[in-house]
Amino acid sequence: MSVLSGKKILLGITAGIAAYKTASLVRLFIKLGADVKVIMTPASKDFITPLTLSTLSKNPVHSTFYEKEDENELWNNHVDFGLWADYFIIAPATANTLSKMANGTCNNLLLATYLSAKCPVYFAPAMDLDMYKHESTKNSLEKLQSFGNIMIPATSGELASGLVGEGRMAEPEDIVKFIENDILSKLPLKGKKVLITAGPTYEAIDPVRFIGNHSSGKMGFAIAKAAADLGAEVVLISGPSHQQIQHSLINRVDVVSADDMYKAAHQYFNHVDIAILSAAVADYKPKNIASQKIKKKDATLTLELAPTKDILASLGEIKTHQYLVGFALETNNEIENAKTKIKRKNLDAIVLNSLQDKGAGFATNTNKITIIDKYFNEKPFELKSKTEVAKDILNEIVLRVGN
Ligand code: CTP
Repeated sequence: MSVLSGKKILLGITAGIAAYKTASLVRLFIKLGADVKVIMTPASKDFITPLTLSTLSKNPVHSTFYEKEDENELWNNHVDFGLWADYFIIAPATANTLSKMANGTCNNLLLATYLSAKCPVYFAPAMDLDMYKHESTKNSLEKLQSFGNIMIPATSGELASGLVGEGRMAEPEDIVKFIENDILSKLPLKGKKVLITAGPTYEAIDPVRFIGNHSSGKMGFAIAKAAADLGAEVVLISGPSHQQIQHSLINRVDVVSADDMYKAAHQYFNHVDIAILSAAVADYKPKNIASQKIKKKDATLTLELAPTKDILASLGEIKTHQYLVGFALETNNEIENAKTKIKRKNLDAIVLNSLQDKGAGFATNTNKITIIDKYFNEKPFELKSKTEVAKDILNEIVLRVGN
C-alpha cells in the first residue's frame, strides 16, 4: 500500500508545456488511493483543460478567486484548499510561479493557496534550459528550499524548444516515487521495530473446547496499522481473531494460547524498540488438558485452573532499551490501579480503558483511553474510533521515544 493512500493531494498546475503530463499525474495519485483536487493558474488552462482534470480527479477544478454560477458569484477560499491538503504539489512549476512563490507575490488563486498552505509543499520545476540555469531562477529554487519546500529536481533531455538540457519536468511516475520516498524517509518510526500483541487467547480444555474471551483484536490490529503507517517494522502477534491486515511492514504471527503468545513475544522482544501489549491474555488455563473430549457424565464439572505466565510482566523484567507499553482494563479505582501496574510490571506507559466509560473496551469499534506514563503524567482522550485511538497511542509513544 502506498503512503499516499487515503491522503489529500492538492495539485497546483502552472503554465508550462509539461502541464499536459498532469493528466497522468492525477491518474497515478488516484490509482494509489489518494484524494485529489486541482487548482490551476489561469494561463495553464491553455495547456490542459480543466474538464480533463476534473474528470480524472473527480473534483471541480478552480483557477480564480471567484466563479460565476448562474447569477451568483462563488468565492473559492484559498485558505480552505490549503487546510484541506495533506500535501501540496506544484507541477509543472514555471520560472514565473517559482519567482512569485519565492517573493510572496499573490496575484492568483494558486499563489494565495501556496502562501496559506500549512502542509508540506513539493514543486517540480519545468522550463527551458537557459531559464533553469539563470541566477534568478537558482535564487528562487534556493529560497523556496530554505522555506522548507521540497524540490523535485528537473531532469535533462529534449525540451519543447528543441534544445537539449536540464529543465524538463520529472516524469509523473518519478514525481510520485519521489514524493513517496520523501514521505517514507521522514516517517517518525522509520527504522524502528515494534512488537504488538493483539486479540484473545484460547486455553484448551480438551481437543474441542477452550476458555476464551470476547476480545476481537480490533484495537491491537489498529495499533499495528498505525505503527506501520508511521514507518515501523511491525511484528503483530495475534491470538485467534477474524481481523485482516495487509501491509508490507507488518509480519503477522498467529498464536492460540497464552503459552504460545509468551513464546512468540520472547522470540521477538530482544530485536524491537517498542512493545505494545494489547492482547487480552487469559489469566488462567486448565491445569490439565484432557486428551479426549470430556464426556457429559455428572451434574457438575469442575475444572482446575492454573495461572498463565504474565507476558507483559516477564518482558518488564528483562527489558533493556525497549519502550514497553501495557494495557489495563479496569472497573474501579482505575487510575490508581493503572499506576500500580506500571510499577509492578516495570512499564514505560500504560493505556487505561475504563469499563465505566460507554463505548470503551472489547468488541466495539470505539474506545476511550487515558495514557499514563512512568512519571505518572496522565493524558485522557475523548471517545474515538479504534483507528483514531491507535494513532493517539502511537503519537504519544513517538513523542516519548523520539528518533
Ligand atoms: N497481560 C499479559 N499476559 C498475561 C496477562 C496480561 O501480557 N498473562 C498483559 C495484557 O496484554 C495487558 C496487561 O497485561 O497489556 C493487562 O493486564 P491485566 O490483566 O489488566 O492486569 P493483571 O496484571 O492481570 O491485573 P488484574 O487482573 O489484577 O487487573
